[in-house]
Amino acid sequence: MKAIILAAGQGTRLRPVTLTMPKSLVPVANKHLIEYAIDTIKGAGITDIGIVVNNLESPIVAAFDNGHGLGVKLEYIVQDEQLGLAHATGLCRDFVGDEPFAMFLGDNIFQDKMSDFIRTFPASNADASIVLAEVSDPSRFGIAVVESGEIKRVIEKPKNPPSNLAIVGVYLFRNSIFDAIGKIKPSARGEYEITDAIQQMITEKKAITPYKIKGWYIDAGKPEPIILANQLVLEGLPYSPAPTLKSGKIEGDSEVSHRVIIGDNSRIVNSVVRGPVIIGDNTIIQDSYVGPYTAIGDNCHIEGSEIEASIVMNNCVIRLIPGRIDRSLLADNAQVVSTERMPTAYRFVLAENTIVEV
Ligand code: G1P
Repeated sequence: MKAIILAAGQGTRLRPVTLTMPKSLVPVANKHLIEYAIDTIKGAGITDIGIVVNNLESPIVAAFDNGHGLGVKLEYIVQDEQLGLAHATGLCRDFVGDEPFAMFLGDNIFQDKMSDFIRTFPASNADASIVLAEVSDPSRFGIAVVESGEIKRVIEKPKNPPSNLAIVGVYLFRNSIFDAIGKIKPSARGEYEITDAIQQMITEKKAITPYKIKGWYIDAGKPEPIILANQLVLEGLPYSPAPTLKSGKIEGDSEVSHRVIIGDNSRIVNSVVRGPVIIGDNTIIQDSYVGPYTAIGDNCHIEGSEIEASIVMNNCVIRLIPGRIDRSLLADNAQVVSTERMPTAYRFVLAENTIVEV
């Protein structure tokens, strides 16, 4: 069995972060979003993975190359026009060949590792199997109607949802999906919808089975869900004892709790850090408080400030901020600093779609 991951989307709902990085590379607990899909696929015993990107210059290719560093074999398939998920899947026909395959959307993150579900599919009688979750806002998703253990109907973003079972971005297919993709027309939003291709299979009396996800699931397409995903992943960090002074990472009057992971050459100076927290390499936390559910990247400097439940990517500076920074997302090279200069004033250099709440 092989797997494909669709990662060519523009990530418009995550701007300005995605103006400079693809959504799949946004870090959640200091690991790229797409690596969670890769881990799940690998956990199910699949190592041949095709990633659909919008061009070969994509930072995704630069980050993972042939996949060696992740213990998988990666190939890249280019979708240069954003014509929808079914179109992207169709481009993978040569890559998957005749085998059954798993298809993952690169921006969803799950607690459930789904290994048995994926492993048992090739020997099952199903033509496709789709992962579903109960959601409170079904009109945002592809929705499935399940009867007698089979999916009897699917509909993309219905105004009047016939159920609250959402399609959450993991699909197991056989080759028959490609014929179905060839028969569908673009939707109202101008895209070839994978949901429509699945409905085409249902119309042709193919057996589509549901798999209901266990545990939490996040569609990490927007800042709030990314911050929540970061929290949920950090919540799952296993116990690790509080780092001691001997580790060379803690200095002065600092108080660092258990479940705090500190990277190479990073230092905590006169600060309080309460886990679960993850801190990258070459980062300095000085005269500050870092609270639970915070992930801080490499080469950051946090000084005289308080931060909690946030994601700070690489090369960021936070200095002398009065009041606590909470549930915030700082992309690479962002700076939030207070100056002593007069006149007292706010001064911003903001990218498109930036949000500042004071
Ligand atoms: C896509 C699919 C939709 C699915 C969703 C899951 O929607 O078209 O069926 O429920 O992913 O995240 P999009 O995120 O492209 O709007």
